Amino acid sequence: MDDERITSSKVQDSDEQANEQSLRPQTLNQYIGQDQIKHELAVYIEAAKRREEALDHVLLYGPPGLGKTTLAMVISNEMAVQIRTTSGPAIEKPGDLVALLNELQPGDILFIDEIHRLPKIVEEMLYSAMEDFFVDIVVGQGPTAHPIHFPLPPFTLIGATTRAGLLSAPLRDRFGIVEHMNYYTTTDLSNIVCRSAAIFESHIDNEGAHEIASRSRGTPRIANRLLKRIRDFAEVENDAKIDQKIVEKSLKLLRVDDQGLDQTDQKVLRTMIELYGGGPVGLSTIAANIGEEPDTISEMYEPYLLQIGFLKRTPRGRMVTERAYEHLGIQYINK
Ligand SMILES: Nc1ncnc2c1ncn2[C@@H]1O[C@H](COP(=O)(O)OP(=O)(O)O)[C@@H](O)[C@H]1O
Ligand SMILES: [Mg+2]
Repeated sequence: MDDERITSSKVQDSDEQANEQSLRPQTLNQYIGQDQIKHELAVYIEAAKRREEALDHVLLYGPPGLGKTTLAMVISNEMAVQIRTTSGPAIEKPGDLVALLNELQPGDILFIDEIHRLPKIVEEMLYSAMEDFFVDIVVGQGPTAHPIHFPLPPFTLIGATTRAGLLSAPLRDRFGIVEHMNYYTTTDLSNIVCRSAAIFESHIDNEGAHEIASRSRGTPRIANRLLKRIRDFAEVENDAKIDQKIVEKSLKLLRVDDQGLDQTDQKVLRTMIELYGGGPVGLSTIAANIGEEPDTISEMYEPYLLQIGFLKRTPRGRMVTERAYEHLGIQYINK
């Protein structure tokens, strides 16, 4: 249900997945924004190539839709090596990990999305694989069981996670390169929208791109999704031209407001104000009132509301800020 929100930062269906594939930048140069990260990675990549070694293990963390998977693929392109993609929950037992590692050529990348969801027993096996490029596996059962020392080619592990705090310290410490992805600026998002529009062969002007960018919650995935929907409106109503007016009109129909908030975001804020005087109120109480899971609120709604300063965290719970009252047009009473 939540994943069907137009403003959800998660991938919605296989259609969108295919769509994203076509929009993915291939090189660091095409990758827009995150300048500090790009700059660092360019140095590490160049150094590893000169030494003809595998790149150090990389941990990428940040909210969904900010370009972690894309960046992993860009790194494999820049290193000119193969990348194998999997995810934490997909690796159920040590044997699954060994099978993946066994297929790697020297220098190749293993990309593990949602790495914080690896089973413990698999995670522990990764330690020696990452540190010294071997795994010890036990073959056979009962009295015939015996360990085998299994050497691996030097490889690069790229892990992605939405929250670094979810990762165990021993695993986190084994990544030489740790990059924290930030929400994008409106300027960067504008550039991403223009680049995507060019790939779709759509006409968009600067004001239109800026309007989409400013309502995309700092998130390229959302910017691309809004663009795609607005493009449909523009084709039907505006001679296929995407300008500020058609963006405004379309987003009004899609019920996305000028800060990129949708119905549920508004409901979260209004409930807190109307039932709890703006807080402080606990996450589970908010969730119960909205009819959502607490995890859904904390992962999908709260981060952006915190980011734009509409919510703040206090030891006693979440509070709605004066700025949010203003945005909703509700009079703020200082407590
Ligand atoms: N820096 C960027 N420049 C251009 N497009 C980007 C960038 N980051 C992300 N995107 C676009 O956003 C979409 C989502 O990115 P993705 O890498 O899947 O995010 P994540 O893995 O962090 O959830 C991609 O399909 C890509 O088209
Ligand atoms: Mg991803």
